[in-house]
Amino acid sequence: MNTLGHCRSEIVDAVHAQFQQMDQVIFAGATHRPGQLVAKELLRIAPEGLHKVFFSDNGSTAVEVGLKMALQFWFNQGCAHKKRFVALRHSYHGDTFGAMSVSEPSPFNSPFPLAGFPVSYLDPPVAGRVTPESVCEQVTALCSQYDDIAGFIYEPMVQGAGGMHMQNPVALEKMLETFRSHGVLCIADEVMTGFGRTGKMFASMYTSVQPDIMCVAKGLSGGTFPIAATLASEKIYEVFHHEDRQKAFFHGHSFTGNPLGCAAALASMKLLQSSETLASIEMISSMNQRFLEGFRDAPGREAFKDVRACGTILACEVDTVNQPSGYFNHLRDEIESFFLDRLIFARPLGNVVYLLPPYCSEQGQIYAFYDSVVALGESLLRKKSV
Ligand SMILES: Cc1ncc(COP(=O)(O)O)c(C=O)c1O
Repeated sequence: MNTLGHCRSEIVDAVHAQFQQMDQVIFAGATHRPGQLVAKELLRIAPEGLHKVFFSDNGSTAVEVGLKMALQFWFNQGCAHKKRFVALRHSYHGDTFGAMSVSEPSPFNSPFPLAGFPVSYLDPPVAGRVTPESVCEQVTALCSQYDDIAGFIYEPMVQGAGGMHMQNPVALEKMLETFRSHGVLCIADEVMTGFGRTGKMFASMYTSVQPDIMCVAKGLSGGTFPIAATLASEKIYEVFHHEDRQKAFFHGHSFTGNPLGCAAALASMKLLQSSETLASIEMISSMNQRFLEGFRDAPGREAFKDVRACGTILACEVDTVNQPSGYFNHLRDEIESFFLDRLIFARPLGNVVYLLPPYCSEQGQIYAFYDSVVALGESLLRKKSV
């Protein structure tokens, strides 16, 4: 979540200065300079085709806004029946009702009723498991079966909380292209993947087809403030921009576009684009690739079912023969304490231990993580053989 390190003076100073000018104003019927500057900069660095910014407070609400925009896009045009969302298996989009409803069914969301729209799930375009052709067939079949699809929501390139599953960009592109050709809106949830995580500024930049709506949070402020945004294309905006006020997008929170959060976001985006940070992102990404190559024949490798990387993210999935992979896998606590003993707070997703480092991490810190992965593998194999 933290992308630039804690208490960076550039961010602290910017927030401090903003606090002395204006701390908070409701962002309805009012605007302010920090908000305008963040929107401008965000659109400058965003994937092509996104033209408008809607602020909110966290990843879940950014997704909520994206879903509501998609539903009302159709409603405003007399297509109120278009209420269905397509999502990916293993997806996680947040804990508010809409975001929960498009996340994969799991103990996290099963006690709660769906938000009032139907959801269909597709297999993610995971590298090595699907072909671009099979993805295209699945999407076409779904779009022929349902004429009520409002949008397709997806975590591009890496599905985070669902297990750090990584995708084949060619298959992802085919998926987006096929949805687009059936008039389905594409909603990229870049809450985890945005701001350099996958090696590019946004994971959507791995494909040539860009989303109609994109949700960002965490890394927008470097992980320092509860500020988020949903970006939309001109095509979406035009449907809301109307003389009839009932067509407006009625959504807002008291702290939407909070000026302090905006100051943090502005300073954080500047820091993110510094040559020092960009070089670090590249360094960590190539260290991950080298680790993958070196680990292939290393002792301990056999304990893992899969080891994968995308940009600065590395995920190591322990092979647990009698239990499915996932958040509730029994190995979670064991892996966590194994890493804690080495002074690394790893927070594994069940049997998947992952690296999601701030870009200011030093090489030695990254190597310490790799060494612990190797040691974990060796230790698990030793136990198995006893
Ligand atoms: C892809 C994705 N979407 C949405 C969310 C929800 O964000 P938040 O915890 O800020 O509500 C998360 C959080 O981990 C996420 O990884």
